[in-house]
Amino acid sequence: MQGRFGIIGGSGLYDIPGLKDAAWTQVDSPWGAPSDAVLTGTLNGVPLAFLPRHGRGHVHSPTTVPYRANIDAMKRLGVTHLVSISACGSFREDMAPGDFVVVDQFIDRTFAREKSFFGTGCVAHVSVAHPVCPDLSAACVSAARAAGIRVHDGGTYLAMEGPQFSTRAESLMYRSWGCDVIGMTNMPEAKLAREAELHYASVAMITDYDSWHPDHDAVDVADVIRTLQGNGTKARDMVMALAAMLPKACASDCDQALAHAIMTSPDRRDP
Ligand code: ADE
Repeated sequence: MQGRFGIIGGSGLYDIPGLKDAAWTQVDSPWGAPSDAVLTGTLNGVPLAFLPRHGRGHVHSPTTVPYRANIDAMKRLGVTHLVSISACGSFREDMAPGDFVVVDQFIDRTFAREKSFFGTGCVAHVSVAHPVCPDLSAACVSAARAAGIRVHDGGTYLAMEGPQFSTRAESLMYRSWGCDVIGMTNMPEAKLAREAELHYASVAMITDYDSWHPDHDAVDVADVIRTLQGNGTKARDMVMALAAMLPKACASDCDQALAHAIMTSPDRRDP
């Protein structure tokens, strides 16, 4: 792989042990401060940058995560391939707590977040019809399997605003829409990664059955944390395996997303 491997880690994943030349680096961004410093180093010879999405100590809620600054910081560090790791609930009996899902579609129900690097001064409309990099996603599936993790190849992720979990009526509605998992952080992250022309993949780690399941009455943070503790070790094993399997090429032009997306004429654009 040319470039740098980036990871944004979610609840339960706040560092990557075993990095060579590891250093926490503060990155300045015109979009504000990122969630935390970025841990840089090499993993099996692959340059890597890791950012804990909620900050060490879990200080940012899903709504206050500075998504634009985080993606911008990764881009500034030369990240080309970005893997999002996050916790989620499941809408499917066969997608059980402890399983991983390599997500390939999203429904964005968030409403209180900045969602674009573009606006007044330079307007762009990127396509997110296929919101993840298929090559990087396939590598995530292979890496999870190599690490002995039960992984589902593809799934639709409902991004909710939070921070409260869903009501039972909402949970049943999302299930009826055909959603597979639910979380609070993959949007607008995936959209911003596309605007930043990154290869992006999302690995969602299931911690619960949300609130639709007749045998699981409500999401309980204690249960979520218990599952996350096991998932954190699995996620690190997957990352180790993935470093050796990153794709050399991409058939989908993720890195050309802006080629035909900018509407503002070049002489009117903000510098
Ligand atoms: N993160 C983990 N479990 C979740 C759930 N059920 N809903 C939203 N986000 C989650």
